[in-house]
Formats: sequence, C-alpha cells, structure tokens
Amino acid sequence: MRVIIVKDYDEMSKEAARIIAKQIRSKPDSVIGFATGGTPVGTYKELVRMHKEEGLDFSKLTTFNLDEYYGLGPDHPQSYHYYMFENLFNHVNVDPKKVHIPDGLAKNVKEFCKKYEEEIKKAGGIDLQILGIGRDGHIAFNEPGSSLASRTRLVALAPETIKDNARFFEKEEDVPRYAISMGCGTIMEAKKILLLANGEGKADAVAAFIEGPITSQITASILQLHPDVTVILDEAAASKLKRKEYYKHVDKLYRKLEEEEESSN
Ligand code: GLP
Repeated sequence: MRVIIVKDYDEMSKEAARIIAKQIRSKPDSVIGFATGGTPVGTYKELVRMHKEEGLDFSKLTTFNLDEYYGLGPDHPQSYHYYMFENLFNHVNVDPKKVHIPDGLAKNVKEFCKKYEEEIKKAGGIDLQILGIGRDGHIAFNEPGSSLASRTRLVALAPETIKDNARFFEKEEDVPRYAISMGCGTIMEAKKILLLANGEGKADAVAAFIEGPITSQITASILQLHPDVTVILDEAAASKLKRKEYYKHVDKLYRKLEEEEESSN
C-alpha cells in the first residue's frame, strides 16, 4: 500500500486528479470506478479543469459508480446519480451511454445487482477504482460486519452513516435507510485502487484500516490484501498513523524513482 501524505484538501485533490489523469492518458478507454461524498468533489473539479484547459479526454471511458441510495431516482438532488452529473459528467466529454450508476429505483434489486456485476466483467473489469472512507471505516456502503467477500447488493446503512450523511439532506429522517452498493469482493477485483481521506474526523478510520488488523469491522482494511492501492491523506487524516514519518520517507524515495523513470523515457 502506498501512503501519500499531503498538506491539505487542495493538495490531496490535485494529487488524486493527477493519478486519475495519468490513467486516462495512458489508456483512453479505461474503465474507471467513481465514488461520491464530500471527499472527491475537489478531485472532480480538478479533472474538469484538466479537461477544459489541457484537453483531458473522457470520451472513450467506461465508468461504474460504487453505490446509490435505494429509493432515490436520478433526478433527486441527493442521489449519487445527480451528484456525478453535477460534479463531473456534465462538465466533461464522457459518453453517457458508458456511464453506469446503480439504479436506486430498481424493482428487482437482486436481478439488477447481478447484471451490474456482469456489466463490470463485460467491460473488462475496473482499471482504477476511486474510494473515500466512512468514519466507521466503510468503503462504498460496506458497513461494519459486511462480508469482506461481498458482491453488489442491497445494504442497510449504519446509524453513524445516516447521521454523517444527514448534512446533505434537509433532515436526518430524509436520509434513505438502504443503498445498492458494490461489495468488498467487487472492489477488490479492480486492478488499481485510489483511496482519499481528509480531515480529523477520518483519522481513526485511516489508522485502523492501514495499521490495524484485517477485519470486517473496518471494511477498508481488506485493501491490505490488494496489490496496488494508493492512499492520499491530508495531514489531519494521517494524524493518528503510528508510522507517518516512515510513509513520508518511502514516498520521497518512490517519487525519486518515478522521476528518474520518467526522464529516461
Ligand atoms: C458515503 C459513501 C462512501 C463515502 C463516504 C464518505 O457513505 N457511500 O463512498 O466514501 O460516504 O463520505 P465523505 O467523503 O462525504 O466523507
């Protein structure tokens, strides 16, 4: 796991966008897994800037989103569908036919989830999956206790998550109680993973998933078993890591290697 610690939210967003853009440039028909929440908003803003100012081309991409609130349609302003178009897709040249976001109004949810998994496979699998993390250590909506081998399915949200996400709704009662979410097993099949976290509120979850044991109580901890994970943290989110200085030290060395590689190409 590569842990990159940067000064603040702005630097985290720029670093994340740089990695995503590198993936898109090296493979224009990449399959990208997108995440929602407050964390990646700045990253998406930077990607929009790169599209407008540097011609970053989204036209050949296929995209899959991690999750969607169950019961919310695409036009609901708090749906993840709405979020993705508002924050990214409406501002870049992505082909809407290649965008996949779980259908929060699916009638036959089991059938829908099975198909979603099949579509990911048909697209050749996810090349780069972007992730945030919940304060309880969840990825997508894989709440504590979710199977670490889980697949896309209907999940019930934990009380902490409902409370945390209430800030996006008028009142807590409006937050949906269920969601359709990729499983930990689905996420683990992505070829590369990029997890972002900022702010003190994420410091415990970050320390637990990077340095604690692999446990279904912190579903992000399964990422320790993935061969290609990059984590970008701001100082506040990294503040409870025991080996913070060590991660900074090795990151510098890796960067030096990368620069040498790039200049020799
Ligand atoms: C939700 C989403 C997650 C996201 C998490 C953190 O629960 N399902 O994908 O990572 O919130 O959100 P935020 O970035 O707003 O802290």
